[in-house]
Amino acid sequence: MPFDPAVIRASFAVVELRAAHASRYFYTHLFAHNPELRRLFPTELAEQRDRLFASLTELVLRADDLDRLTGYLRALGRDHRKFQALPEHYPAIGASMIAALRQFSGHSWTPEIEKAWTEAYTVISQIMIEAAREAPARGPAFWEAEVVHRRRAAPDVVVLTLAPGHPYPYRAGQYLSLCSPRRPQVWRPYSIANAPRVDGTLELHVRRVPGGQLSTALVNDVVPGERLRLGPALGDACLARGSTRPLLAVAGGTGWAQIKALLEEAGRTGCRPATVYLAARDPRDQYDLDSVRSLVHRHGWLEVVPANPAQGAARESAIELLRAGLAGRGSWAGHDIHLSGPPDLAPGLTGLLTDLGADPELIRHDPVPATLNRTQPLSCSEWFLDKRDVAWINRTDLGR
Ligand SMILES: Cc1cc2nc3c(=O)[nH]c(=O)nc-3n(C[C@H](O)[C@H](O)[C@H](O)COP(=O)(O)OP(=O)(O)OC[C@H]3O[C@@H](n4cnc5c(N)ncnc54)[C@H](O)[C@@H]3O)c2cc1C
Ligand code: HEM
Repeated sequence: MPFDPAVIRASFAVVELRAAHASRYFYTHLFAHNPELRRLFPTELAEQRDRLFASLTELVLRADDLDRLTGYLRALGRDHRKFQALPEHYPAIGASMIAALRQFSGHSWTPEIEKAWTEAYTVISQIMIEAAREAPARGPAFWEAEVVHRRRAAPDVVVLTLAPGHPYPYRAGQYLSLCSPRRPQVWRPYSIANAPRVDGTLELHVRRVPGGQLSTALVNDVVPGERLRLGPALGDACLARGSTRPLLAVAGGTGWAQIKALLEEAGRTGCRPATVYLAARDPRDQYDLDSVRSLVHRHGWLEVVPANPAQGAARESAIELLRAGLAGRGSWAGHDIHLSGPPDLAPGLTGLLTDLGADPELIRHDPVPATLNRTQPLSCSEWFLDKRDVAWINRTDLGR
């Protein structure tokens, strides 16, 4: 391994405290030095500024575990074609990442640290660039799809049926990223809610997030006849090939979309006992119950256990109900387990399930989105004590 992972981790511990500032600096540096890249990013970066920077640093931190990471990075590289990312853009991103880390490491930054970060970034970016270069043989950068049907399934949830213009390859359990001309450059991931169909159509379940850019447009505005862009299918939370182990699935909110696709697939590939815990924050949020009943009616091997807190109960009570229900069943040893729901669902249940006998290797879920907002904001005193000059801003130009 050309770089020392311990050096990278220790240096990031310093920057992590100032992550929100570092992320803002990263984008400002990137666009100041490469104004032509601005058009590739959404107009509104304020709320979700750290989407790229958080993932970038997290991946570099894990760059010593390339055996596990390579498949993900190759998929990410192929996926980045939809952003119009070109090989020559990668050094620019790397340079701004290093500039942000250097700036927010204060006096602890050393040439050795810079070398380690640069080498690790080079390794992961080369994997992405290589995969993107080979990708045209496997499919286009994105697919155009027409919205052919739209159904309001709950006050805040719509089920959209999409017809891609070209065959769209995927496996049940995968997700795709989506962009609407109503919100240019705003791509968000959504689970595909059905196993592959003969007519090629895809269903998505979209919940409106308060203030959310794309979900608000999809739930409020998008109508049949409109066209959306789809990135290539991603994720590996699919059924284990050839497995006959019993299934346990936990679906929270629109996490039901992924579990529904998996159950359709399980129904095609041979029956085995399946238990699904279906949770909603509030009974009003429970949706698609007709499909749930119809699946239970058709498949004698399927049991669905609802976990709905009382109307108006605290948000956390749904996860508490789930924990109590799962613990009440005793052991989950020998089960294939699928977890799908809000970002805190999988981290909140994995430890419990392992304590209840589940094999961690058999627990599958989508990657939890990286965010740097978990970290504490930098206190004012810390910020001023270690504040350094921002070398790349020409203060004369700013009139100071
Ligand atoms: C692998 C994966 C699969 C997903 N599948 C689905 C799916 O099938 N159906 C679905 O509706 N959504 C799904 N999501 C969430 C979806 O990608 C978007 O995050 C969501 O629609 C909000 O996007 P937005 O542009 O409307 O909000 P943004 O403009 O990105 O965010 C606006 C505000 O809402 C907050 N926020 C963002 N997402 C959430 C959230 N999920 N819950 C609460 N607050 C949030 C942000 O922190 C921000 O403050 C999935 C996410 C991932 C990572
Ligand atoms: C090793 C290098 C890189 C890594 C690890 C990386 C990783 C990521 C990840 C994980 C995301 C979030 C994806 C999502 O939310 O769907 C992302 C978003 C993005 N990336 Fe990259 N990326 C890299 C290089 C680049 C390059 C070179 C470009 C082109 C300029 C680029 C452009 C973008 C854009 C436009 C977004 C969307 C940002 C947003 O929605 O706010 N990335 N990147």
